[in-house]
Amino acid sequence: MSKDGVQTQSELPVFGTGQHLLSVMQLDRDVLTRLFATAEALRPVGQGTQVCRILEGAVLGSLFFEPSTRTRLSFESAFHRLGGSVVSTTGFTFSSMAKGESIHDTARVVSGYSDALVVRHPDTGSVAQFADASVVPVINAGDGSGEHPSQSLLDLFTMRKELTARGKSIDGATIAVLGDLRYGRTVHSLLQVLGLYDKVSFRVFGPPALALPAEFFERVAASGNHIVECGSVAEAIAPADVIYCTRVQKERLSEEDEQAVHLEGDLINREILDRSGRPDAIIMHPLPRDSRHNSFDLSPDVDDFPGLAIFRQTDNGLLVRMAIFSHALGVADEVTKNLRPASWYRR
Ligand code: NCD
Repeated sequence: MSKDGVQTQSELPVFGTGQHLLSVMQLDRDVLTRLFATAEALRPVGQGTQVCRILEGAVLGSLFFEPSTRTRLSFESAFHRLGGSVVSTTGFTFSSMAKGESIHDTARVVSGYSDALVVRHPDTGSVAQFADASVVPVINAGDGSGEHPSQSLLDLFTMRKELTARGKSIDGATIAVLGDLRYGRTVHSLLQVLGLYDKVSFRVFGPPALALPAEFFERVAASGNHIVECGSVAEAIAPADVIYCTRVQKERLSEEDEQAVHLEGDLINREILDRSGRPDAIIMHPLPRDSRHNSFDLSPDVDDFPGLAIFRQTDNGLLVRMAIFSHALGVADEVTKNLRPASWYRR
């Protein structure tokens, strides 16, 4: 992956007008800069104080074949906020896939009704199959344990902002990545996209049965960054600027995995954080977190920790997804001149 904004390693084209967004391999530093500038310009629209109807008349097809709250609603809200409208189907039961329709046919049909598609599907690589048959840009909202590029964009956007506020930057940062590193697609995309930055140092910890697959160690090393596997959460977070936590992807565990994975307690809680001696650490999580007792996730007892950025991440997700649509549909340059005050009361 190039750090100079010229090339990516991927066979897929660099993300821009008319392109699908299937993988973080389609991003370079130049695209990130432009997307983040658009996201920032759209902040008042996300906050409901300004209106920007650059997608007036456009229709989004939203196809979610796996559970989702923030990804689906933020993508749909992003399209609505820019003046477009949304048609959607959720789950297999209420789509014609329940009648045996193929990915190819579904994608071709729904893309004929829409100007962009957002797709989440449980099989790795399946969203690329939707893209092959679609006549409009397809955004990957998560394909099995494969990729989740829009989440990586909002993670980077948030990380950059939080680090900047502390006089730091992503270049040179130490990032602890914890939890389900085997099946977590947000981790897979994030480790790769951070290959666009210099001198990032990763400290990863996952239970043995959920350890990071070897290919990601190789990819990080190939990008010139540094990665070390730690034996405990404490060891991973001790020097960390950012602590990125993830949920165990229980829905992806095989029977064999379930027998091998015995998890108890919290992944991170207030006591662990206080003992780490990192009062200025930034805590991130793609959410949802499993807030039930002993779920081996980020405990709600950290909610008053000053560096907890999880809800700033979700708020930023709306801005970043508006930016993704603006670029995919070629209207990013229209944002500033189309901003006007909202007429409703916003608290
Ligand atoms: C993640 C996902 O679906 O991959 N959630 C999200 O989109 N924010 C993480 C998860 O489900 O654990």
